[in-house]
Amino acid sequence: MPSGIQIRNLCFSYTPDVPVLKNVTLDINPGERFGLIGPSGAGKSTLLLHLNGILTGSGEVKIGDTPVDKKSLAEIRKKVGMVFQNPDDQLFNPTVEEDIAFGPLNFGFSRELVASRVKDALAAMNLAGFEKSVSHHLSLGERKRVALATVLAISPEVIAFDEPFSSLDPSMVLQLISLIGGLDATIVIVSQSFLPLISCCDRLAVLKEGKIIAVGPKDEIVRDEEMMKASGMDLSLYRNICREYFSK
Ligand SMILES: Nc1ncnc2c1ncn2[C@@H]1O[C@H](COP(=O)(O)OP(=O)(O)O)[C@@H](O)[C@H]1O
Ligand SMILES: [Mg+2]
Repeated sequence: MPSGIQIRNLCFSYTPDVPVLKNVTLDINPGERFGLIGPSGAGKSTLLLHLNGILTGSGEVKIGDTPVDKKSLAEIRKKVGMVFQNPDDQLFNPTVEEDIAFGPLNFGFSRELVASRVKDALAAMNLAGFEKSVSHHLSLGERKRVALATVLAISPEVIAFDEPFSSLDPSMVLQLISLIGGLDATIVIVSQSFLPLISCCDRLAVLKEGKIIAVGPKDEIVRDEEMMKASGMDLSLYRNICREYFSK
């Protein structure tokens, strides 16, 4: 059973006197697909980085029953996989295969288990045949798929994605939505790709200037036009395009 996430009164600043997260309290249910939206600079990536202890603010973050703190870091890194916005922050081995094997090897998995995890992760991301490719020679979209494969290979209970849909072509976006739907994990996604995001998530939270201003089922959030506009996200572009080109 995947873990849920509990965030209580989380505050964080990169520089003193410039608060970025302001008293964030949020519950994400085990196995849920949860989306975090908000304008650029709202603090979405910063919040995500607290889920596996890359950043630690004041307040509390718990993954299941485990508080994220210095003592639990090794355990938390096994439980929470982070797919970074920029795959180059994730890929540092010479080949795709070595990048994907890195996590499982690091966790001391047996040789057989590492091999099967690598194979499954490659297959899930449509990367069979890329084993010996040099990661930094691949296209950005391909590197994003390898980055996700490195996380799938450790089979974490929680997977946090920062802008997973950017630089993917439409059919890869569809494939990723379907892959995310099939993962046995709690999923947290930060994305400005609004349409793919709402199609994957059950609930959404809206972050504005470091504060959660709305949380709820996606239908409620997306239909709350006034709140969405006030948060700095005018969705009329999507609505108009859908009406003009995709409705009968
Ligand atoms: N490493 C950093 N050092 C200082 N300020 C940062 C750093 N990363 C982000 N910030 C600032 O924190 C705020 C929130 O950034 P971020 O979490 O990246 O927002 P979002 O992901 O919602 O676009 C922004 O004002 C940004 O400039
Ligand atoms: Mg961001």
